[in-house]
Amino acid sequence: MSSLTVTPGASLRGAITVPGDKSITHRAIIFSALAEGTGTIAGYCRGEDCLNTMRAFQALGVQIQESPKELTVQGKGLWGLTEPAGVVDCGNSGTGIRLLTGLLAGQDFFTVLTGDGSIRRRPMGRIVKPLREMGAMIAGRKGGELAPLAVTGTTLHGITYASPVASAQIKSSLLLAALYAKGTTTLIEPRLSRDHTERLLQFYGLPFTREGNAVKVEGRPSVGWQAVPRLTVPGDLSAAAFFIVGATIVPGSDVTIQGVGVNPTRTGILDVLTRMGADIQLLNRREEAGEPVADIRVKSASLKGVTVGSDMIPQTIDEFPILCVAAAVAEGQTIISGAEELRVKESDRISTMAAELRPMGAIITERPDGMVIDGVGHSKENGRLSATKGKSHGDHRVAMSLAIAGLTASRSTIIDETDCIETSFPDFSERLMSLLAGGRS
Ligand code: S3P
Repeated sequence: MSSLTVTPGASLRGAITVPGDKSITHRAIIFSALAEGTGTIAGYCRGEDCLNTMRAFQALGVQIQESPKELTVQGKGLWGLTEPAGVVDCGNSGTGIRLLTGLLAGQDFFTVLTGDGSIRRRPMGRIVKPLREMGAMIAGRKGGELAPLAVTGTTLHGITYASPVASAQIKSSLLLAALYAKGTTTLIEPRLSRDHTERLLQFYGLPFTREGNAVKVEGRPSVGWQAVPRLTVPGDLSAAAFFIVGATIVPGSDVTIQGVGVNPTRTGILDVLTRMGADIQLLNRREEAGEPVADIRVKSASLKGVTVGSDMIPQTIDEFPILCVAAAVAEGQTIISGAEELRVKESDRISTMAAELRPMGAIITERPDGMVIDGVGHSKENGRLSATKGKSHGDHRVAMSLAIAGLTASRSTIIDETDCIETSFPDFSERLMSLLAGGRS
C-alpha cells in the first residue's frame, strides 16, 4: 500500500492539463464498440476504472488498441458483441458495472460481472429492479441487490420508469438496455443528472428525445451508427476540482487548467466555490464531442461558508470530498443537505471526510443526508488546517482531497492507502508537484 506525503510551503502556479473525463471515457468506449467501423478516442482517461471497461469490451470480442494518447476501437455494430469466456471484472467502477449490466441484459449470451470489495458492497438493486421490469434475467447476491451479477441475455421490452434517484448510472444503464428493447423506453429522473449518454446519442445521430427530465429512446434502431474517426474526450472537471480548490486555498496561487469539460450537469463545484468567494474564470470556451470545454483559471481567495441544498447535489456529486476541504478552511459554517447518495459512493463520503478532517481542525457534525462543517477560517490558525496522518478508506477522491487539505497545514501531512488514486488520476502527484514547483520558482 503506498502513501503520499504533502509538504506545504509553496503556492500553486502554472498551467496544466488533467486526465480525460472518466464518465465520458466509459461511454466513448461503449459507443465506439457498438459503432460500425474503426474509431479513435483521443485524450481518454487512463485510470483503472476506464481501463477495466476497455478490458471488458475486449473480453466481449471487441479489438481495442491502447496507446498513451488514444484508443483505437474496431466497432462490432449494435449486435456484434460475443460471450466472454470468463467473469468480467469492473474493478472499483460503479459506472462500469452498472452501464455494462444494462447493455448486456438484451444480448443473446450470458455474462457474470463483478468488482472489488467496494463495488461488491454498493447497491445494484437500483438498476436490477427496473431492468427486470424490462424483462431482464439478472441474478445476484441478496436477490440481485449486490454484485457479482449474472446476466442471462434475453429479449427486452421498453418501459416507462420514474427513477427515485437522480443518477446518471441508473439512467445510462436503462438507456443502453433500451437500445436492445422492443418499443420505446422512457426514463424520468427527479433532477437532471449528468447527461453525457444523451449527448453521445445525439453526437452519433441516434434517435432519442428529451423533455425536461425525461429521456425517451426507440429500441432496436434499424440502422446502426458509424464510428467517428477521432473523438476527443474533454479534461475531467472532477479531477480539475482538486487543483481548483488547491489554488483557491493556498495563498499566492494562480493556476490554469486547460481543456476541461464544463457541461452544466457537472459544474456545481464552480457555482458553489464562486458563492463561497473563489476567483474562477472560464476562458477560451469551445466544444468537443458535443461537450462544452473551457480553460479554467483560478487565483487564491478567502472563502466563506455556504448552504448547499438538494437542488445542487447531482451536478456536484463527485466533488463533495474536495468541497469539504474548501469548507474546512473557510470562515463560518457550510451546511450540506439532500446528499444521502454520498453514503453509497466508493466510500461513505460523509463519514470518511468527517473522520479525516476532524483531526485537521474542522468541526464537523454528520447528518444522515449531509453534514455541517465549521471551518477554521476565522480561528487563530487563520485558514490553516493541522498536519495529520490521514487515510483514503480506499476512495480515490478522499485520498486526493486530503492531499490538497495538507497544502494548508504548517507541517507535512501523510496520507496512507493512496494506491486507489490510480482508479481515476494516475499522475495526480506529478501534476501537483509541477504546480508546487511553479510556486517555488
Ligand atoms: C457517474 C455518475 C455518478 C458519479 C459517478 C460517475 C457516471 O454516479 O458519482 O462517479 O459516469 O454516470 P450516480 O449516477 O450514481 O450519481
